[in-house]
Amino acid sequence: MDAIYKRRSIRRYRNKAIPEDLIEKILKAGMNAPSAGNEQPWHFIVVDDREILDQIPEFHPHSKMLYEAPAAIVVCADVTNVKYPEYWPQDCSAATQNILLAIADLDLGGVWLGVYPREDRVKKLQEIFGMPDDMIPFSIIALGYPAEQKPAKDIYDSHRVRRNRW
Ligand SMILES: Cc1cc2nc3c(=O)[nH]c(=O)nc-3n(C[C@H](O)[C@H](O)[C@H](O)COP(=O)(O)O)c2cc1C
Repeated sequence: MDAIYKRRSIRRYRNKAIPEDLIEKILKAGMNAPSAGNEQPWHFIVVDDREILDQIPEFHPHSKMLYEAPAAIVVCADVTNVKYPEYWPQDCSAATQNILLAIADLDLGGVWLGVYPREDRVKKLQEIFGMPDDMIPFSIIALGYPAEQKPAKDIYDSHRVRRNRW
């Protein structure tokens, strides 16, 4: 519950690399997400090459924080021979959220950058990373040691909840 409330979109980062053991913890959180039929269609690209990070804001209009972020994780789906082709975006969403919660729990900062279903963003990322057409980049998570603080949030709204009928 602490990580859920503490997680905020953090878009300013200190100039400090993230140690490999933390990256691995974060990836483990992503891979522990639920998936339809336990398909686990996800693959992850860890990006810490400054030249590559700097290419993304050239076509993704809401990703300027990548100029400052020491790293990003691209969540991708392998859509070849999936048993439940309708569900891979939900699977990748669950993995993305698990990653964001792990980042918050480790006192790092991160933000979800939307990719799929924007075709232009999908194509550009496939080009940059040399991905085949049936590997779909779903989201980017920018991350780093936070250089901004945001209060934990509690936006519970009882009007959004109904019981037993609409
Ligand atoms: C599917 C999705 C796509 C998003 N895309 C972006 C994005 O491209 N750039 C960005 O800065 N934030 C993006 N966000 C983060 C939202 O702006 C943020 O979650 C929202 O404003 C709520 O703030 P909070 O995360 O601090 O609670 C995205 C979030 C989601 C779930």
